[in-house]
Amino acid sequence: MKPFLIKPASSLKGEILLPGDKSIAHRALILSAITAGSTEIDNFPANQDCLSTLKVFQKLGIKIIKDKTAMVTVYGRGLRGLKKPAAPIFVGDSGTTLRITLGILSGQNFRVTLKAGRSLSQRPMLRVTRPLRMMGARINSKLTAHGSKLEEYPPITITGGRLKAISYKMPVASAQVKSAILLAGLYARGLTAVVEPIKTRDHTERMLKLFKAGLKLRENKIVIKGNRELTSPGRIYIPGDISSASFFLVAAAILADSELLVSNVSLNPSRLGIIKVLQRMGADIKVQSSKARLQSYEPMGDLLIKSSALRGVIIKRAEVPSLIDELPILMVAASLARGKTVFEGVEELRLKETDRIRSMSENLRKMGVKIQTVKADNCEKIIIKSAKQLIAAKVRSFGDHRTAMSMVVAGLKARGATFIDNITCIDKSFPGFLRALKNLTA
Ligand code: S3P
Repeated sequence: MKPFLIKPASSLKGEILLPGDKSIAHRALILSAITAGSTEIDNFPANQDCLSTLKVFQKLGIKIIKDKTAMVTVYGRGLRGLKKPAAPIFVGDSGTTLRITLGILSGQNFRVTLKAGRSLSQRPMLRVTRPLRMMGARINSKLTAHGSKLEEYPPITITGGRLKAISYKMPVASAQVKSAILLAGLYARGLTAVVEPIKTRDHTERMLKLFKAGLKLRENKIVIKGNRELTSPGRIYIPGDISSASFFLVAAAILADSELLVSNVSLNPSRLGIIKVLQRMGADIKVQSSKARLQSYEPMGDLLIKSSALRGVIIKRAEVPSLIDELPILMVAASLARGKTVFEGVEELRLKETDRIRSMSENLRKMGVKIQTVKADNCEKIIIKSAKQLIAAKVRSFGDHRTAMSMVVAGLKARGATFIDNITCIDKSFPGFLRALKNLTA
């Protein structure tokens, strides 16, 4: 494949309406599948990950129709309506599809094997299989020893059955793990509780409430009542994806004379870390959320951003879950911010589609940025010093969509022509990214 060329741009102007939020769309589809009756999902994003979830539930016996617009209709069959698939199911490289679906499969009366693509087959699964086994699921996977520690990887064979409720204190902050346990809790007798060390995105809790599950929320504890059928809301609108918005927000902040309106985007408080940090860095962002949109199951609104001079800040460990997927593009912003930016507690970044600490550091260093990574015990920190001017270079996506999009944005602000080895991976979350960017840049 020919490397992709990015030429510098002078500004970014206009309005953008983004495809539906990936995390919310997975949950909308999964809950619709296990609820009797039909549910229409509007603004469903046609990215590879969400289409993986769609195909997985079709293989599990659910009729799902996707029309030419962004509308998906799911003909759900109730909590116990899934069917044993004829063959192993391929989940692609979507970690959310795999980990969350394992929660649902823990409660089914059949055995199924889930196979993953090359990148997902290297991502750890013990964090999710451990609590699901405690609930009664029988799970086999590929075991690998790392020194004295064992880790599990796909493919995974799971035999569900009667589940018992557990109370689980999560050792890592992960919305995927929390969601898997809560969804398994739908099939358990009694009350299943999850306690979070740091709050992660709460889309599963909001979607469960929308489907009238028996859910109670206390500070950092979520309790769900099992063995109760869900009720479909009939139609769900998926707000625009704030993670996809983040690439445009940073591009608008760093390119002179920019002014961008991002419409109908998710303003879920557990995902607003990117906005808070960019504002702290000095970015001129106005959040416009109408009352009606705030009262919806997921808050939604518009963002208006203008170019601004950025300064370095400290990002604390407790903030990381609220901007975990935005760290690569924030590393680009930090490279151009005056002074020093410190990202604390970012070790989970090593376990994404690729090791994003490595992919982003290697690329940004090639563009002249000074980056230091500090490891102590199991914690990691990234320190970035302003580059003043990015120098164009030949960089790599490492097959990771967010690394690729971040480097495209970096290329817009670099001196010279930047080349990225392979950008097809962008389709994992945002197939229309380059087209949208082209329409806005001058
Ligand atoms: C997601 C949770 C996060 C995030 C991922 C989507 C979700 O992963 O990085 O892109 O939809 O629940 P972790 O649960 O591994 O933190």
